[in-house]
Amino acid sequence: MAKEMTKAKEFEPKIIAFLCNWCSYAGADLAGVSRMQYPPNTRNIRVMCTGTVSPHHILKAFQKGADGVIVAGCHIGDCHYLKGNYMTAKRVAILKQLLKFTGYQEERLHLEWVSAAEGVRFAELVRTFTQRIKELGPSQLKASA
Ligand code: FES
Repeated sequence: MAKEMTKAKEFEPKIIAFLCNWCSYAGADLAGVSRMQYPPNTRNIRVMCTGTVSPHHILKAFQKGADGVIVAGCHIGDCHYLKGNYMTAKRVAILKQLLKFTGYQEERLHLEWVSAAEGVRFAELVRTFTQRIKELGPSQLKASA
């Protein structure tokens, strides 16, 4: 038991974050230049809009070894391409249902809206999501990839 707990503490999840160029990537940048502290587990991928992130990209990230995936973009109504984040909200909701249906932990996928001015929100998102994935443990999907 004690050995398992030590092992769980040692687990450092790999997290892929698809960040919209106009809002969330800028929010991440603000968190960085403001020297806010958050776990280094996230690898950020800048996309022009969350609407360009297809379910295929998300599933591929899991397949290639991600323990968790964040999709973050402009707040509803602020998308620079007008309806990109509406599509993303629908896609992620459906993909989470699909993950749940197949027995995979849907909590490993998270959608959040973070503006360019919300560095604090971005840092908090990474902190809480990393903790959540640590508690869930390593992803089972990558093992079968
Ligand atoms: Fe940011 Fe569409 S431009 S979500």
